[in-house]
Amino acid sequence: MADKIYNIAVIGGDGTGPEVVREGKKVLDAVCSRFGFNLNYIEYDFGGERYLKTGEAFASSAIDDLKKTDAIYLGAIGHPDVRPGILERGILLKIRFELDQYINIRPVKLYDERFTPLKDKTPKDIDFIVVRENTEGLYTGMGGVQYKGTQQEVSTQVHCTTRFGAERAIRYAFEVCKARHLKKMWQGLSDDEKKQGFKGKVHLVAKTNVLTFVHDTWWRAFNEVGEKNYPDIKTDYAHVDATAMWLVKNPEWFDVIVTENMFGDIITDLGAMIQGGMGIAAGGNINPKGISMFEPIGGSAPKYTGKNIINPLAAICAAGMMLENLGEIQSAQAIENSVIKVVREKLKSLAAGKMGYSTTEVGDMIAKFI
Ligand code: IPM
Ligand code: MN
Repeated sequence: MADKIYNIAVIGGDGTGPEVVREGKKVLDAVCSRFGFNLNYIEYDFGGERYLKTGEAFASSAIDDLKKTDAIYLGAIGHPDVRPGILERGILLKIRFELDQYINIRPVKLYDERFTPLKDKTPKDIDFIVVRENTEGLYTGMGGVQYKGTQQEVSTQVHCTTRFGAERAIRYAFEVCKARHLKKMWQGLSDDEKKQGFKGKVHLVAKTNVLTFVHDTWWRAFNEVGEKNYPDIKTDYAHVDATAMWLVKNPEWFDVIVTENMFGDIITDLGAMIQGGMGIAAGGNINPKGISMFEPIGGSAPKYTGKNIINPLAAICAAGMMLENLGEIQSAQAIENSVIKVVREKLKSLAAGKMGYSTTEVGDMIAKFI
């Protein structure tokens, strides 16, 4: 039988994006040859440089091309010479919205206790997943500005919540929790977990005491879906400000968090820091029935660009998430195992320039251990 082939759109993008994507592809090629499938890369040059040259951030016809692929692998978007918003809205958010990638999934997992800034926390304390709603909230661009530049200037940016949007994110979070729980059962429980009897838990994070309309929609959807469809999964609620506190004080309380777009954006940067920094934090923009996009969440890091010092592990982990999403579970696991080995046995730090190895050397080591 011929090997299975997946078509992957690759957008290196800006800053360090192309460098980390190159290492991700190196690792993907290594798993391909070991596990017997093929990836066909289709490269796109979207990003700041293209925009500065052509005045166009993105060719709208490209959306149709992206729809024909199996997944999208993205480096980073953001250029110091381009006004904030143009590339973010024009490329990243455009793809998320047009492909209806309504989930942004961000695992927060500590691989080695040396790399968390939290005192006395270990890998068993920091292991949760944030399910961020990815197409609504403050991100839709609804609103506007009037009398701009005068004393009367007024601007609004609408927090758009639909029951449909909240509910589908909530359902996805419960499904993630179920799958995580099953995976843990299958891998075997640790003694600690046996004592506690590991049970999945989903936290709704919102601000129901202030956003009494939009987050009331979330609150009711969360409770109704939980009670009706997932009676075995524990549920809990935390305000977003308290969550910022608990994530530092008691990250072990969290298993799966579901939250709206903007709050998810903010708490996943906090999550990234407690798992060891932007060098290791990966995410997926998911359309469960369509085309999903995987990216390191750290951004374009202009000051490290071209120096071969940026940590490629976040991009490599994103590649692993992409394979898992495509159903190549074993190869995704092989990538994670290799990342764990390199993080624990080789790296001095997860920060750019301090790893003890260059970007390309880290990619080489991961590929070698596959
Ligand atoms: C992220 C980023 C984006 C977001 C920006 C670049 C638009 O911060 O993926 O978290 O806010 O979603
Ligand atoms: Mn962000």
